[in-house]
Amino acid sequence: MSKHTVTVTDNTSGKSVEFPVKEGTHGPGAIDIKSVYKEFGYFTYDPGFTSTASCRSDITFIDGDEGVLLYRGYPIEQLAEHSTFLEVSHLLLYGELPTADELDAFTASITKHTMVNESLKDFFDGFHYNAHPMAMLTAVVSSLSAFYHDSIDINDPESRELCAHRIIAKMPTIAGAAFKHFVGEPFVYPKNRLSYSGNLLNMLFSRPTEDYEINPVAEKALDQLLILHADHEQNASTSTVRLAGSTGTNPFAAIASGCAALWGPAHGGANEAVLRMLEEIGDVRNVAHYIDKAKDKDDPFRLMGFGHRVYKNYDPRATIIRKTCHEVLHAMNMADDPQLELAIKLEEIALQDDYFVERKLYPNVDFYSGLIYKALGIPTQFFTVMFALGRTPGWIAQWAEMTEDGEQRIGRPRQIYTGAARRDYVPVVKR
Ligand code: ACO
Repeated sequence: MSKHTVTVTDNTSGKSVEFPVKEGTHGPGAIDIKSVYKEFGYFTYDPGFTSTASCRSDITFIDGDEGVLLYRGYPIEQLAEHSTFLEVSHLLLYGELPTADELDAFTASITKHTMVNESLKDFFDGFHYNAHPMAMLTAVVSSLSAFYHDSIDINDPESRELCAHRIIAKMPTIAGAAFKHFVGEPFVYPKNRLSYSGNLLNMLFSRPTEDYEINPVAEKALDQLLILHADHEQNASTSTVRLAGSTGTNPFAAIASGCAALWGPAHGGANEAVLRMLEEIGDVRNVAHYIDKAKDKDDPFRLMGFGHRVYKNYDPRATIIRKTCHEVLHAMNMADDPQLELAIKLEEIALQDDYFVERKLYPNVDFYSGLIYKALGIPTQFFTVMFALGRTPGWIAQWAEMTEDGEQRIGRPRQIYTGAARRDYVPVVKR
């Protein structure tokens, strides 16, 4: 029995049971309710899992009230400033920042796996030219499972490691191919001498007809965006990866389920929704009207890029990205961009408005990321693909941790059944 316990009493039967509280390194503990059903014959009810810890994890910590985000203990601000996406991927996967030799070996392994089987390219031909890039990404990532199925043993650490390297390496290649299909240009193969983000830019923007020079400002900003999105503990898409993975399914299929969950506008699709919202608002003079709409309970309009399930303070990623957004737009001679001006005005007014203040609704990471992607020349519909690329090391690290965790079982929630009571079948002629 742990030192700290919580006693629950059933006021009908009078039965009391003491439950242990599991403590973590930081943050609130969690009442271990595994035996509630056995003890009381009740399930617990928590739609949206607002009070439920689904696992123990060593990977990421968030303090939503203080606006803190740590990957393996390192503050996101330090990683965003000093690290690289591949180094952060190593940190998430292995728990430690790599030594120089380890980083070289990790980078060599990732670059070795950047190619995809040539026939995977053909999958894109099945998509209409204007298919949403997230539909293509989800389907083609899932198709990777067809190339790596019998060869994967999820119970073997080496096989899991290889799988993690493969998915981190191949995601940009698949994303690049989806992009080229979307814009109707020939696919560009990965170039292993480039950095992870440089290679990504090259696969997105280079054309066989002309030389393409990677802009170092774009390369650095992109790498930073990927770092900021790399993990966020048990969010909807990561929980989806874990839940799918808990059945022992092929890990590429589990990652594809994460892509599907990420796509929604309440999650990773918000960056696309922010730009659409800014287009709809159109002009700073309309901001007040749209703020009123967001506050009106009878109007489905919400301020996209505002609010977060966990952060009830400024999202620390939004603080970093806001600064980068200004730097990128300045470097790209787009500092006068009307949408940036609109976004700043919207943020300013919302942050002073009682409705947003009382509900602790602050800009989240997606409020500014779309403006940076736009400045880099990435089309709006492609924004969530960029988020998926960033989140990939987090998904696969969480999947690996779950697979290694002896306490984890198939994820199988229960329900409170509220449908019709038992009744007998009536033949159609008598209904
Ligand atoms: N605009 C207007 N009102 C809002 C907004 C918003 N963006 N977000 C929350 N609210 C209001 C709700 O209507 C609710 O008001 P009420 O208490 O009067 O009923 C209150 O704030 C609490 O909101 P909930 O929806 O209960 O919060 P929840 O934690 O379930 O939702 C979410 C969080 C989905 C992020 C929500 O804030 C939202 O839809 N934001 C816009 C979409 C967005 O930016 N998503 C990206 C999230 S970050 C990420 O995935 C990387």
